[in-house]
Amino acid sequence: MTAAPAQPDMRVNIGGMSMRNPVMTASGTFGYGQEYRDFVDLNRLGAVGVKSVTLEPRAGNATPRIAETPSGMLNTIGLQNVGVDAFIAEKLPYLRRFDTSVLVNLSGRTVGDYVELCQRLNDVPGVHGLELNVSCPNVEHGGMEFGVDAAVLGGLVEACRRVTVLPLIVKLSPNVTSIVEMALAAERAGADALALINTLLGMAIDVETRRPKLSRTMGGLSGPAIKPIAVRMVWQTYQAVRVPIIGMGGIANAEDAVEFMLAGATAVAVGTASFVNPRASIDVIDGLETYCLDHGIAKVSDLVGKCLVD
Ligand SMILES: Cc1cc2nc3c(=O)[nH]c(=O)nc-3n(C[C@H](O)[C@H](O)[C@H](O)COP(=O)(O)O)c2cc1C
Repeated sequence: MTAAPAQPDMRVNIGGMSMRNPVMTASGTFGYGQEYRDFVDLNRLGAVGVKSVTLEPRAGNATPRIAETPSGMLNTIGLQNVGVDAFIAEKLPYLRRFDTSVLVNLSGRTVGDYVELCQRLNDVPGVHGLELNVSCPNVEHGGMEFGVDAAVLGGLVEACRRVTVLPLIVKLSPNVTSIVEMALAAERAGADALALINTLLGMAIDVETRRPKLSRTMGGLSGPAIKPIAVRMVWQTYQAVRVPIIGMGGIANAEDAVEFMLAGATAVAVGTASFVNPRASIDVIDGLETYCLDHGIAKVSDLVGKCLVD
């Protein structure tokens, strides 16, 4: 009789934030968790990444805010969210019911905004990590400005590092000349981990009306279309930094997740795919476990950076 294969060890650690498996949800594509209650048992996720939180509530941009493109979508939601107070009072209690790490994504207009958000969330039970969104292409002030200049980015991360003991994850923008330069700046300034990538700046035009399809003309491209770019950026960043990387950009199934891990991601986030298949994150977890079993991989973390390059 052959013994049943041992279950692979799926646990990973992202800069101090422990995860029961490497799969989390990408900010802005999973609401505050509750929206997916009929589809996803949050206890199964490695972590829940919630929509960007700002100091004040925001209504977001005017519609139309979404446009479909071949193998991806453009969005210009513009950080619509309930604001940090309502997040703590109304959204976090639901998330606290689960034994799953919660990564709170922060966005601000100024360094002071980010610092205040870090301070506000520092001691709040149920917050396991902070993710700085320095890469939103859809707002006028803040957002991407912080993520495209290494000195500005370093200053922001340093200021946040000073005021929080929580795992500090910096989410990088792909809309830069050198992702490695940004990654190194964030690491030097005290980031515990990096997340990449956010959306790529894109545009679509309705040829009948000759008008842009999005209210703000340009928006962020996400989905399968950006996956090769994201994998490349994770790979380049992995060669340059020591901190763990959360990879994202077009992950829709376990094979995509493995690809990111082989490129150097310790964890992965499922984003746009959840709009197509609300159970996509669970499918990725199940598929990743099957992949490990099929390939005799005892620890999923053994995959990290194991892409064979001559
Ligand atoms: C509708 C939508 C809203 C998003 N909102 C946020 C956000 O609030 N904060 C953030 O850091 N990233 C946000 N993102 C970016 C995603 O978290 C992710 O980085 C990106 O979509 C790439 O992954 P994907 O191709 O799997 O979607 C948003 C993406 C989409 C599609």
